[in-house]
Amino acid sequence: MKVAFLGTGLMGGLMVQRLLEKGFDVTVYNRTASKADSLKSKGAVVVSKSSDAIASCDVTIVMVADFNAVSAVLFNEEVSFKNKTVIQMSTIGPSESQTVQKRVEQSGGEYLEAPVLGGVAQIPVGQLIPMVGGTAEQFNKWKKFLENFAESVYYIGPVGKAASAKLACNQLIATMVSSFAMSLGMFNRKVLTLKRL
Ligand SMILES: NC(=O)c1ccc[n+]([C@@H]2O[C@H](COP(=O)([O-])OP(=O)(O)OC[C@H]3O[C@@H](n4cnc5c(N)ncnc54)[C@H](OP(=O)(O)O)[C@@H]3O)[C@@H](O)[C@H]2O)c1
Repeated sequence: MKVAFLGTGLMGGLMVQRLLEKGFDVTVYNRTASKADSLKSKGAVVVSKSSDAIASCDVTIVMVADFNAVSAVLFNEEVSFKNKTVIQMSTIGPSESQTVQKRVEQSGGEYLEAPVLGGVAQIPVGQLIPMVGGTAEQFNKWKKFLENFAESVYYIGPVGKAASAKLACNQLIATMVSSFAMSLGMFNRKVLTLKRL
């Protein structure tokens, strides 16, 4: 299977390396081309247009910053998604993901979302946690592929549900960190001041 990978930032660069180590044929696109250069020596084909990567592969993985970036790499240039699958792994909103789904499907392609829990430390050891939004058939078809990044891959529901689950998890983490920071601040201001007295 030929894999197109769009976005070689912190996450995407390591995910491409993981796929190359697993023996996949990977064609890579990154907006800032120089950032993808180091992947050439590891076996990736680096192209200067995302449409070239999409056109030459069976499946396209998207791992970029946000919805604007997803739209740019998938739709800025004329490309047909006929008989191709897009697996969108960036963190974007549920309605944004459904918008991308519509555009890919209108062009004859298949779309599923698979945002991940975990970060750069989990990629080399294959311990990301992808949450899949799509049909159950798509989940069963792509689960094995996603296991290249993960020990466990979770089916959440139709497109939009996994994007929601990812945002809920991020909100939980943000809330916990801000509560911790507030408690630490109170501790520093009140408790440590008292102790000094
Ligand atoms: N970092 C984490 O621990 C982590 C964990 C879980 C999920 N995520 C999610 O994974 C995604 C990628 O995160 P990251 O940490 O890899 O981010 P990053 O290092 O900042 O990389 C962002 C990527 O998006 C591209 N990009 C940004 N704006 C673009 C645009 N307008 N058009 C085309 N490409 C654009 C960048 O291209 P350039 O190189 O040209 O700027 C780069 O390839 C995000 O959705 C993030 O929320 C991250």
